[in-house]
Amino acid sequence: MQHRTDNAPLQQLDEWDDFVATRYRQGKSEEEFRNYKADANPTVTEFYRLNHAHQTLDFVLNKKAEYCSLNRDRKSIWGMAEYLNTLVDDSDPDTDLTQIEHLLQTAEAIRKDGHPRWFILAGFVHDLGKVLCLYGEPQWAVVGDTFPVGCGYSDQIVFPEFFAANPDSKIPEYQTEYGTYEPNCGLDKVHLSFGHDEYIYQITRGYLPEEAQYMLRYHSFYSAHRHGAYRHLMNAKDERMFEWVRKFNQYDLYSKGRERPKTQEILPYYQDLVSEFFPDRIAW
Ligand SMILES: [Fe+2]
Ligand SMILES: [Fe+2]
Repeated sequence: MQHRTDNAPLQQLDEWDDFVATRYRQGKSEEEFRNYKADANPTVTEFYRLNHAHQTLDFVLNKKAEYCSLNRDRKSIWGMAEYLNTLVDDSDPDTDLTQIEHLLQTAEAIRKDGHPRWFILAGFVHDLGKVLCLYGEPQWAVVGDTFPVGCGYSDQIVFPEFFAANPDSKIPEYQTEYGTYEPNCGLDKVHLSFGHDEYIYQITRGYLPEEAQYMLRYHSFYSAHRHGAYRHLMNAKDERMFEWVRKFNQYDLYSKGRERPKTQEILPYYQDLVSEFFPDRIAW
């Protein structure tokens, strides 16, 4: 771990996903859940320390300005998936799934349960925003539980003590319950910490139904979709749509560990599916 920098405490990006999957392991009691620190190794803990210290409202607004205007590139979904697959970090090719395999595994689990095509497609694209890592963004700006910035932090977020090092915690206007927001203003008006969720939402929003947009945009917002935090910022539509976010989360968390997807066999299905919803090239 000596070669790890401040920007990359995790040996691989998936270490965060694995931590979340362990944290919410099926059949865990609420008490076991509250002991989540036992599941976090030192690299994961260090990752959260950085994430909570550096994700300020200012940082989020800057990253949104930088990436969410989507003027970086025009690529196909497949081009982006292949690009994401070049993110190999320290993973073990014999046991660890590639990024595309994780996407296919999630999508296949959704398909097996007979869900609509747009839902399967949401599974296939949900983590493509992790290409932010390949753009040179630090791990703490790509993955991690997302949370609202510009208002008080919920104690339902893991490692809340690390927020003490966030400069926003010294700004009293940002630390009230509503902060810079209005009661039940709707999550669309709320800035979440920046990461792969917001980025893939912005890229795909014009092509997917709203339920899928919610799944992509909020899939890492665990304090809200798992613990019911931040309802005071949500409106009636958010409440309705979060049913879909919760449905999606089951597949994101628990499709890992199933058998390795037979990529060559299922590829034609996904080629059809992608071209049903997306044009050849889209803005990134
Ligand atoms: Fe994700
Ligand atoms: Fe995922």
